[in-house]
Amino acid sequence: MTTEIRQVTRTIEPQPVMEGAGVRLVRSIAGRALDYLDPFLLFDHFGSDDPNDYLAGFPLHPHRGIETVTYMLAGVVAHRDSLGNAGVIGAGDVQWMSAGRGIMHEEMPQPKDGRMYGFQLWVNLPARLKMMKPRYQEIPTGTIPEALRTDDVRIRVIAGEVDGLHGPVTEIAADPTYLDVAVPADTAFTHPIPRRHTAFAYLFAGAGTFGPGQTPAAGRKLVVFGDGDAVQVRAGAGGARFLLVSGAPLGEPIARYGPFVMNTRAEILQALTDLQNGTFVQAD
Ligand code: CO
Repeated sequence: MTTEIRQVTRTIEPQPVMEGAGVRLVRSIAGRALDYLDPFLLFDHFGSDDPNDYLAGFPLHPHRGIETVTYMLAGVVAHRDSLGNAGVIGAGDVQWMSAGRGIMHEEMPQPKDGRMYGFQLWVNLPARLKMMKPRYQEIPTGTIPEALRTDDVRIRVIAGEVDGLHGPVTEIAADPTYLDVAVPADTAFTHPIPRRHTAFAYLFAGAGTFGPGQTPAAGRKLVVFGDGDAVQVRAGAGGARFLLVSGAPLGEPIARYGPFVMNTRAEILQALTDLQNGTFVQAD
C-alpha cells in the first residue's frame, strides 16, 4: 500500500475582523473566503502587541450546539460562565469547551509581559450531541505532551497521536487532531491523517511548502488539504510553525446564527426563545 500525500486545495489569507466588544483579530474560517470546513465552523487568530486591540474582550455571550477551542501562545484569557466555572487560560494552555445545550460566558484577554496571542477554533457538534450537558476540558500547558524528533521537529500534541504520544483532549465527536508543530529550516514533517477527515494547517510563523505540489505559503495562512493518507510540510530557510488540525466531517445541515450553530432554523429560533425566556442555561 502506498501513502498518498494530500494535495493543497486552497490557501486562505486571514481577514481582519472586529469581534466581541472591539477585539481586532484575523479570521480564516467563517469569513468571506471560507464559510466553514466541516466539522470546523470558525478559526480566529487573535493577539497584538497593543492592548487597545483586545482589552475590550468578549463580554457575556451565549453559545449552543458547538465546541470552542482556545489555545494561547502568550498572555492570558480570563473566563467566567453562567454555570459557575471561572479560570484563566495562560500561555500554552488549552480550553476545549463543549457548549452543548447552552452556556453564557465572558472571555477577557489580558497581556503578560506586554503580549497576548492565541487561537480560537469552533468545532461542530453532531445533531445527537448539540443539546448535551456543557463540558469543559481545561488542559494546562504542563500536561500537553511534546514529541521531539531526531530532526528537531517539535510537536505539541493537544489532540490526536504523534509518535505514540496521545493528546490530553479526549471523547470529542469529531475525532480531532490538534497539533502545534515547529519545523526547523529545510526540514520536512509528515503526519498521517485518516482518509476522508478534513485537514488544514494554520501557518503563523516562518514559511514553507505544503503537499506534494509544494504549494508555498508564508506569514499567516490557512492551508486546506484534500483527501489522502498524510500531510507533508517542508519548512523554508527560516523554519516554520503551524497548527495542524483535522477532524471527521459531520455531513449534516448547518443552521448558523452568530454563536448558535444548529441543524435547522427552527432550532435557532428555539435558542433565541430560550434566551428571552431565561431558560437557555440549565443548571442540570
Ligand atoms: Co465564547
